[in-house]
Amino acid sequence: MRLTNQVAWITGAGSGIGEATARRFAAEGARLALTDVNPDGIERVAKDLGPDVFTAVADVTNRDQVQAAVKGITDKFGRLDILIANAGLAKDGLALKMSEANWDLVVDVSLKGTFLCCQAAMRPMITQKSGRIVTTASIASLGNPGQANYSAAKAGIIGLTKTLALELANWNITVNCVAPGAVDTPMLQALKEEIRQGMLQAIPLKRFAQPSEIAAAHLFFCSEDAAYVSGQILFVDGGLSTGI
Ligand SMILES: NC(=O)c1ccc[n+]([C@@H]2O[C@H](COP(=O)([O-])OP(=O)(O)OC[C@H]3O[C@@H](n4cnc5c(N)ncnc54)[C@H](O)[C@@H]3O)[C@@H](O)[C@H]2O)c1
Repeated sequence: MRLTNQVAWITGAGSGIGEATARRFAAEGARLALTDVNPDGIERVAKDLGPDVFTAVADVTNRDQVQAAVKGITDKFGRLDILIANAGLAKDGLALKMSEANWDLVVDVSLKGTFLCCQAAMRPMITQKSGRIVTTASIASLGNPGQANYSAAKAGIIGLTKTLALELANWNITVNCVAPGAVDTPMLQALKEEIRQGMLQAIPLKRFAQPSEIAAAHLFFCSEDAAYVSGQILFVDGGLSTGI
């Protein structure tokens, strides 16, 4: 087991990639803290993973709820070793017609939410002089028609990741980013079939990722094998970001 007794906080843990990461980290011996804006998913996952799992409903855009979650985690486990800042959503539409509300929602959840969770997690990590933070970008950070809000937020997360890697290195905290391509989760399943088929054709490996394949990247960044890796962006995208 590669995460024995490591305390890992996963946001957006009630579905898709967050759920897969919770299940993989539990199998690797981690002690889990699962948060989500929606209580249903985290309760379901926690039930499967045993009585020692911490759960809390926390909207990542709400500073008080985020800080309360970290207090709950450190009260229960006495420390915090890992943050997987995974919560996110999409509200797609061409920039010409995009509402201000949909811009604000997506940028708030992805970019501000990631910042607030990183800020709350870094406090106990600084005290411990150790920690691993993994943020979540996307292939869309490279640009994607219909996703001006999402693309901008995810590109912002890359800048945030690199800056935090520099600011937190002094305390032996690494900060890295996983940038998934198209992953078979409810977020992808919500797209129209013709859009999904178009994406499939463009992916060199000709299939969508399974959520467990993104969890594997999370595990790498949090394992001993990545102790000297910080400020990196790992595209897990079936080759989609490669080539001209
Ligand atoms: N699925 C993909 O193809 C794909 C590709 C690239 C990046 N991503 C990113 O991976 C992450 C996980 O996505 P997924 O595909 O598992 O999606 P998902 O919709 O299955 O899960 C996202 C989870 O985040 C939670 N969430 C949403 N808003 C929140 C908020 N304000 N506070 C707390 N939790 C909130 C949701 O309730 C949900 O449980 C997201 O950041 C997403 O942008 C996904």
